[in-house]
Amino acid sequence: MSDIILELQDLKTYFPVKGSRTQFVKAVDGVSFQVKKGETVGLVGESGCGKSTIGRTIMRFNQPTGGKIIFDGNDITAADMKPFRQRMQMVFQDPYSSLDPRMSVGDIVGEPLDIHNPKMNRKERYDRILEQMKLVGLNSEQLSRFPHEFSGGQRQRISIARAMVIKPEFLVLDEPVSALDVSIQAQIINMLMDLQDQIGMAYLFIAHDLAVVRHISKTVVVMYLGHIMEINTAKDLYRNPLHPYTQALLSAIPIPDPKTSRARRRQVLQGDVPSPINPPSGCVFSTRCPYATEACRSQIPKVEDVGGGHVVSCLRYKEINN
Ligand SMILES: Nc1ncnc2c1ncn2[C@@H]1O[C@H](COP(=O)(O)OP(=O)(O)O)[C@@H](O)[C@H]1O
Ligand SMILES: [Mg+2]
Repeated sequence: MSDIILELQDLKTYFPVKGSRTQFVKAVDGVSFQVKKGETVGLVGESGCGKSTIGRTIMRFNQPTGGKIIFDGNDITAADMKPFRQRMQMVFQDPYSSLDPRMSVGDIVGEPLDIHNPKMNRKERYDRILEQMKLVGLNSEQLSRFPHEFSGGQRQRISIARAMVIKPEFLVLDEPVSALDVSIQAQIINMLMDLQDQIGMAYLFIAHDLAVVRHISKTVVVMYLGHIMEINTAKDLYRNPLHPYTQALLSAIPIPDPKTSRARRRQVLQGDVPSPINPPSGCVFSTRCPYATEACRSQIPKVEDVGGGHVVSCLRYKEINN
């Protein structure tokens, strides 16, 4: 049996541009990576680079334009998702708009049970909801309350309880803490890690900031404008980033170790992410890369495994890290 719960092979998701028959938003443009059972992959990149689209395409809320999605050995690229819905769930970024304000918390958390397990009797249903509430740090009195009575952090706990109540094996967490205060972020991340230890789900944890995914991720995938720039274990990525984009993202976050901090060249990313409708030729990062040459602007770099699952997509990574 394979230890891979999710695999993306050259996944592409394009959206038609309104009013045009020939133009597409290439939100995801050839992305491959794997998530192992019970482990966390962090998916990081600036806003607009295609992270949510990857999450939504995995769930098949968006339909892939090309490539493959393999879930626990099953090709789900074009499959009927009914048998898989219970095994994979998604938590969304905004804790304010993602909960129905007219439903009680008990009914919100119980809704997936009603959909996937309608024959469950009332007592079983109640017990399961209560158990899940406790797992996310909420209590039985809060079951009859409504979303507006809760803080952002508590609402995100409710969203997580709802996603987990049917015991999925894989969870897409789309910027689950980005809207929350830093102190609350750490609490939610610790809770997610505890739940993973207890229950053994795999996570795809999406964030726009490398600092957020550092402790929860076993592996980190760095993407830019629909493409993968670098993949490495979290341990090695933060210590030895090889791609100039990873280096730039890392130099933007404070790190506690002064030695590493000094050794690292400071880089600030200039300008905005280009449009995925007209992406730059060659390497998509070339218009913002301090090391880009003519070759970078004309050749698309290979997404290369440089050893042990460490992936880099840069023509010049050897030279610039010398
Ligand atoms: N349903 C859609 N229709 C058209 N364009 C979309 C749609 N969803 C996302 N996009 C575009 O795809 C790109 C990637 O978006 P998204 O996946 O939300 O990025 P991220 O989550 O990294 O911020 C953006 O340019 C966005 O405007
Ligand atoms: Mg997003």
